[in-house]
Amino acid sequence: MINLNQIISAMHSRVNKAISPHCEMYRYARTGFASEEDTQDYYFSSGFELAKNLCGFLLEVGVEPEHVDLLDFAAGYGRITRWLVPTFKSVTVADVEQNMLAFHEQVLGIQGFLSPAKAKSLYSHPDRYDVVFVFSLFTHLPKHTWSQWLAAIFSLVRESGYLIFSTHSYEMFAELAPGKFESQHKKNFVFWEGNETNGRLQTSIYGSNVLTDEFVKRELTRLGNASHVRRYKKGEFDRFHDIYVARKIAKSRTNNSLVNVLTYPASLWRRLKGQRQH
Ligand SMILES: C[S@@+](CC[C@H](N)C(=O)[O-])C[C@H]1O[C@@H](n2cnc3c(N)ncnc32)[C@H](O)[C@@H]1O
Repeated sequence: MINLNQIISAMHSRVNKAISPHCEMYRYARTGFASEEDTQDYYFSSGFELAKNLCGFLLEVGVEPEHVDLLDFAAGYGRITRWLVPTFKSVTVADVEQNMLAFHEQVLGIQGFLSPAKAKSLYSHPDRYDVVFVFSLFTHLPKHTWSQWLAAIFSLVRESGYLIFSTHSYEMFAELAPGKFESQHKKNFVFWEGNETNGRLQTSIYGSNVLTDEFVKRELTRLGNASHVRRYKKGEFDRFHDIYVARKIAKSRTNNSLVNVLTYPASLWRRLKGQRQH
């Protein structure tokens, strides 16, 4: 089995470091750094860390990236995607701008699709993926569409595959914006209209939120076919975001008792059930 060091060296030797002049992630970062050089360092190192940690998680659960069809949903101009391309079997992107898809196709050599205006339209998307990675989209959605996008994006995950997405916690705001929420009761979900796109996306549909672990776990449970695998807290996977991993339960497992009844002869089934009761 390939190890993380081999993956890291493939990433570094084959990453494409072209930056789109339209990349908002870069432009936004530029406002916080003194020079282009520092901004580039941040842009590349933060994207690399996420890609490395994603691969690290997959290796931990016995999945080799070179066998994985990955969807980077809400990929922007590929801050993270560029590091994934050298190591995954296939990488597809989705976002809301044709320009972004053109960048991915022309510069990174990968295909993408436009994310629809309404989450429910995703259900008819023709492809499914082993892993769907969503960094910094669920941190921007209002509560009423959060659940809709979660369910719709989760429908793109193959059985036994993984959805890996980021959120903003109260702990993060306590560090980055001290005082913003301290005086308030910690509601499960708080949304406000403010974003980094300078008018490209409406703040009412793409703003900012903070939410609790309880909220995310309840939403994952509501999906009905998701098992919550892991939560990485801020600093463990990304510098600021929390990361959640949910796995799609295979149909044969959601209906386990039925499968067992059909698979085992009646006498063996009775014995197994009896043993479990003792
Ligand atoms: C904060 S950026 C993150 C980009 C990239 N994941 C990264 O971390 O560099 C959020 C991205 O979500 C995209 N986005 C917003 N609404 C979306 C939607 N409904 N479907 C897909 N992408 C969306 C935006 O266009 C933007 O590129």
